[in-house]
Amino acid sequence: MPISRVSIAILVLMLIPIAAGARDGLAIWDSRCEECHGDPDVFAGNYLWVIDGQLQGQHHIDNLSLFMGNHYIPDHEIEAIGDMLQARANSPVRFNTECGGCHGDASDFVEQSLWVSRGGVTGLESGMEVSEFLPTHQGLQPEDVVFYRKLFARLGGKPLP
Ligand code: HEC
Ligand code: HEC
Repeated sequence: MPISRVSIAILVLMLIPIAAGARDGLAIWDSRCEECHGDPDVFAGNYLWVIDGQLQGQHHIDNLSLFMGNHYIPDHEIEAIGDMLQARANSPVRFNTECGGCHGDASDFVEQSLWVSRGGVTGLESGMEVSEFLPTHQGLQPEDVVFYRKLFARLGGKPLP
């Protein structure tokens, strides 16, 4: 019995820093970012990506941390808020999981099979805008179509507004 109590105590101690870290990121958001950007889940879903393990912006494609360093936040808080946002951001990993079995890696698929322009995303083989093609593909729902079109545009370097 004492052993299991000890291990439970150790487990609890191990969990505390993680929980505190997560709370910190949200607390920082509420005090420094919320007034302009609103809810962090909605903001991250709309504007943030995890690409190659790095947090990136929808518009700030290069070096988001440099941008963040000049954006309402002291250096020592960037990591905590970055972790909090990264956990909520979009990722091409979803494509690799749901579509990769047939289409391979997301970036390669965009490069080889799609044409991304400011005006939209077109399939090279079908010549169709993906917003027309995807609703008839793989039982995708409207919100999935929005997500994948946005992902393709972002990976193609011409993010949707
Ligand atoms: C006074 C308003 C204001 C506050 C406060 C603010 N932001 Fe911003 N933020 C903006 C505006 C405006 C933009 C878009 C303009 C730009 O990209 O330079 C932006 C852009 C961003 C982007 C880039 C999104 C993209 O699409 O690339 C990130 C990330 C971001 N903010 C994070 C934060 C975080 C984290 C905080 C809190 C530490 C914060 N912002 C506080 C106004 C604000
Ligand atoms: C079972 C295999 C399979 C899976 C899984 C799959 N696709 Fe496809 N996809 C195809 C095939 C085959 C085509 C060629 C056109 C056709 O036959 O429908 C295609 C075509 C496409 C095209 C159009 C290319 C063009 O030229 O217009 C897009 C975009 C696309 N897929 C996206 C996706 C996305 C996003 C997913 C994941 C949600 C996905 N696919 C999952 C097999 C698959």
